Amino acid sequence: MALVSMTEMLRKALEERYAVGQFNLLNLEFAQAILLAAEAERAPVILGVSEAYVPYMGGLKTISRMVRSLMEHLRISVPVALHLDHGTTYELCIRALRAGFTSVMIDASHLELSRNIEVTSRVTEAAHALGASVEAELGRITGREDDLIVEEAEAMYAVPEECAKLARETGVDCLAPALGSVHGPYRGQPRLGFERMGEIQRLTGLPLVLHGGSGLPEEEILQAISLGTAKINMNTDNQMAFTAAIRTYLQEHPQAYDPRHYFIPAKEAVQAAVRAKIRLFGSSGRG
Ligand code: 13P
Repeated sequence: MALVSMTEMLRKALEERYAVGQFNLLNLEFAQAILLAAEAERAPVILGVSEAYVPYMGGLKTISRMVRSLMEHLRISVPVALHLDHGTTYELCIRALRAGFTSVMIDASHLELSRNIEVTSRVTEAAHALGASVEAELGRITGREDDLIVEEAEAMYAVPEECAKLARETGVDCLAPALGSVHGPYRGQPRLGFERMGEIQRLTGLPLVLHGGSGLPEEEILQAISLGTAKINMNTDNQMAFTAAIRTYLQEHPQAYDPRHYFIPAKEAVQAAVRAKIRLFGSSGRG
């Protein structure tokens, strides 16, 4: 199946109350693991690429071609969206779309509302002309997302009326309101703003996105889905599964030198972690 945008998959997820996972791509092994997990679960899936990993993986075109080739090679038949995660500028979003990404996030949440709306509208117009989808962010989600760091002091919860205005004026396909989730490991007990989540969904009518899915208790994830969260982003948990498998293998085989020998168990660990999340999100069998 060809790559698709997120629009249809998120609309359906919102209607039927489940969530589609966005799993971040870091290298070839992650791409294989996530695609195979989605296919095995017959689930729609979103491959997220953060800005920091674009140069690491050889640029936007390399990533887009790698994903397309792998999908053909692995005979992937479930819907897959290739999504730029936290695009910080209009230019980067356009470059991703030109390279064949089918979805972009424009994260202008550090700007004041009117400027956020302005840049998000421009990205949305360009993306929609190409049949691609757009995610916007309001408020600031704390923590570390690859190289993007947002300090706690800078964090703010999204304001429902501002979310409604942004949704109305930009025409975005989904919205990530900051409501207390963090990127990277949680320090202490996460406290998500569920009341606001429900209100924002009602006011905007949009599928909501929950960033910082790693380390969140299952009940919180299920509650978020029941309130209209239709996309959940996962990165750190998969990084931990990958690295733990490599660490174990190298401790048990200190003489090992062929990377395949430790990448294969690492890839299997990511595949198992992704399958477990897909089941938790309720998206198994929806592809
Ligand atoms: P985690 O790394 O906390 O899972 O967050 C991922 C994310 O939100 C990507 O945008």
